[in-house]
Amino acid sequence: MTQPFPPAAFPYARPRRLRSSPWVRRLVAETVLTPSDLIWPLIVHDGAEDRVPVASMPGVFRLSPRAAAAAAVEARDLGIPVVALFPHVDAAIKDANGTGATDPDGLIPDCIKAIKDAAPEIGVMCDVALDCYTDHGHDGLMADGRILNDDSLERLAEQAFIQAHAGADIVAPSDMMDGRVQAIREALEANGLHDTMILAYAAKYASAFYGPYRDAVGSAKQLTGDKQTYQMNYANSDEALREVAMDIAEGADAVMVKPGMPYLDIVRRVSETFQVPTFAYQVSGEYAMMQAAIANGWLDEDRAILETLHGFKRAGCAGVLSYFAPKAARLLGG
Ligand code: PBG
Repeated sequence: MTQPFPPAAFPYARPRRLRSSPWVRRLVAETVLTPSDLIWPLIVHDGAEDRVPVASMPGVFRLSPRAAAAAAVEARDLGIPVVALFPHVDAAIKDANGTGATDPDGLIPDCIKAIKDAAPEIGVMCDVALDCYTDHGHDGLMADGRILNDDSLERLAEQAFIQAHAGADIVAPSDMMDGRVQAIREALEANGLHDTMILAYAAKYASAFYGPYRDAVGSAKQLTGDKQTYQMNYANSDEALREVAMDIAEGADAVMVKPGMPYLDIVRRVSETFQVPTFAYQVSGEYAMMQAAIANGWLDEDRAILETLHGFKRAGCAGVLSYFAPKAARLLGG
């Protein structure tokens, strides 16, 4: 960074000059936030109802494939480039291997097809992890209370293939097994799916802020223990750079930091160190705590939403996943 020399001093420098009216504030703004920066996470379900409210996430609903297609049309009309799908499946189909994750006629392939029919102009991203389909609620396979790394890779690669084959544009492994990006990339290449993008949840921390999501996708009841043997320790930052470097070397096109607001220091380091698009996820717990304060009148909804989302851009994000995406896009004139 170049420093002004000699250093600007009062009264020659008056930083308030550049803030004195809306037009000049706009003129000198260093970053912008537009609907094109937003990824809208959709919770989808295999139940009979079109929309089921999620108690811990006011304003978020579990959507049927038909309702998800309607949401995708809304996203398109608002200028949101991509929706991300997360499944809530009936507990009866959950098992130790997460068999439902690789059902080519399952909920996610159904939703992808419904969305592609209704709004072919936008992208579809899918979460690669077994937690929504396993009876133990973990992202990989489990034996004797341990999460098996290498045995999980084949399942995850098959899940990603099923999604890409059904029409997903981006597969996003969120499982944090070592080597999963490579396993997925090889499976995609081997099947001629050269253009499928991998957005790796590269620096995903073990976090309390996923609580409402686990309620939304119905994995909270199942989950035995925690995910600290595979998700990252929030004491660490250098380790995030090693994780990102590995995922890029294995074939990731873009990377993600997760959760969002408490981890903007990681976003800044990653985006400055690597020349790949960096994303962050303003996760369910961040959404829930803001909605709780908004509902109580303690936060101004519109201003708080735009301020937090803008923070991601300032930290270096190419884009941000947020449950506020449609609301924010509307505020931004989308
Ligand atoms: C599953 C997954 C999680 C989230 C996205 N994918 C939860 C977890 O790892 O337990 C969290 C999203 C959110 O909290 O909004 N691997």
